[in-house]
Amino acid sequence: MPNWLKDAVFYEIYPQSFYDSNNDGIGDINGIIEKLDYIKSLGCNALWINPCYDSPFKDAGYDVRDYKKVAPRYGTNNDLVRLFQRAHDKGIKVLLDLVPGHTSEEHEWFVQSGKAERNEYSDRYIWTDSWIVGGDGMPHIGGECPRNGTYIVNFFKCQPALNYGYYEVRQPWQQRYDSPECLKTREALKDIMRFWMDKGCDGYRVDMANSLVKNDDDKVATSLIWQDIRKMMDEEYPECALVSEWGVPKQAIPAGFHMDFLLDWRGNPYNLLMRDYHGHKDNSYFKADSDRDISCFMEQYLEQYEAVKNNGYISLITGNHDTCRTAFNLTTEERKLAFAFLFTMPGVPFLYYGDEIGMKFLQLPTKEGGYTRTGSRTPMQWDNSKNYGFSKAAADALYLPTDSSADAPTVEKQEKDANSLLNTVRALLKLRHETPELQDNTNLEVVCNAPCVLKRGNVYIAINPRTKATTYKLPSNAKTLLTINNATVDGNKIKLGAQSFIAVRVE
Ligand code: NOJ
Repeated sequence: MPNWLKDAVFYEIYPQSFYDSNNDGIGDINGIIEKLDYIKSLGCNALWINPCYDSPFKDAGYDVRDYKKVAPRYGTNNDLVRLFQRAHDKGIKVLLDLVPGHTSEEHEWFVQSGKAERNEYSDRYIWTDSWIVGGDGMPHIGGECPRNGTYIVNFFKCQPALNYGYYEVRQPWQQRYDSPECLKTREALKDIMRFWMDKGCDGYRVDMANSLVKNDDDKVATSLIWQDIRKMMDEEYPECALVSEWGVPKQAIPAGFHMDFLLDWRGNPYNLLMRDYHGHKDNSYFKADSDRDISCFMEQYLEQYEAVKNNGYISLITGNHDTCRTAFNLTTEERKLAFAFLFTMPGVPFLYYGDEIGMKFLQLPTKEGGYTRTGSRTPMQWDNSKNYGFSKAAADALYLPTDSSADAPTVEKQEKDANSLLNTVRALLKLRHETPELQDNTNLEVVCNAPCVLKRGNVYIAINPRTKATTYKLPSNAKTLLTINNATVDGNKIKLGAQSFIAVRVE
């Protein structure tokens, strides 16, 4: 287990929209290099960069055409290597996005695989044995290639599934996960992983990590693959890390991941930040008028936490490129408390670019397969200059339009305000880095559900997201470490005003 994860806080960058250093309207690698000091000033010491490889961009780069080449619109391989070096100079780790489950239909492997004549890549993807045969319950495409077969897709039509085989083989065209053909796919994946780790990359965020082996409901064979890859990491790259898009830490950590995301979106049971969809009132926990207590989250969380706390980390997110921005439904004060919670919980937290200033969710037409996700992918708002300082290109040449509202938040504006969301994030991350108890992955106790009081060793975290003041009695006298809004400790009594937070250490 890489030791640096203990105190890691990630910043997720959607490279299209972060900073455009050459003024062509789209963000780039050199732009990220220019902003490393800003990222550091937040208290983030690691990056996750969404796919930056050569791609036709039908799914914003999650349709990879060449895993070993940086997309020209972002720069060159040398730029990326320079980013690794500059980041390391500043104590920042860099994780790339690994898309192991599928490629673009334009990847050379797929072009070869679709040929009628058998060749080295014929078994690299999952093909049925006739142009008229369906996918045995999986989405499939026919009519695109000379080969007499249909192929399975993992997500969009442009994303054919790589062949890691089947756990339960039910059709003659399905290969077992441990067949020589499927082992070759696995080795090809390792080769890609080594390529960037040899150049200085610190590991990967793994897209749809649980999707590799088909007919594998309990993820038995998919887990075997990741265990094999973890072995490679431990032996060859012990300081590199893997975080999975899996969403079930108690499966993903034993499968070999160092961290797994718990995705807080689409009204799933982890309903902390996001609106309950289905048209009814937003009752997510951090809404000031929610009638929930923190057990609505903890019941599901603790089950996962207890199962993995000694072997891996749960990664809570402020949002990501697939979720709605929290500014969609939470006010600034609600978001401060939500972030206070996320950044004082165990695990390795992830901050999505722009969430630190409360960038809005914009209603926009779809771009590069984004659909309703597009509104969370707009240009970073740095200052009040042209295009919010994101790019000097003409406004209509930008990757996506910027927020045109009068109160659009910017880094520049919030730098000047000690109580801004930006400076609250900084204070919270400083607290996290300075407080050993908050870096202990195993010590969480929930001592009260309403208000939410967490015990982390000698440190207590108390949060009152409601407008009614409340109190909490500690076992002994305590000293304040950090507060948000009106919260105090008097001897052993915590007083929590409306929408407030306090962190204290008991004597
Ligand atoms: C999950 C990624 O986060 C998402 O953006 C992408 O569209 C799908 N996987 C397919 O790769």
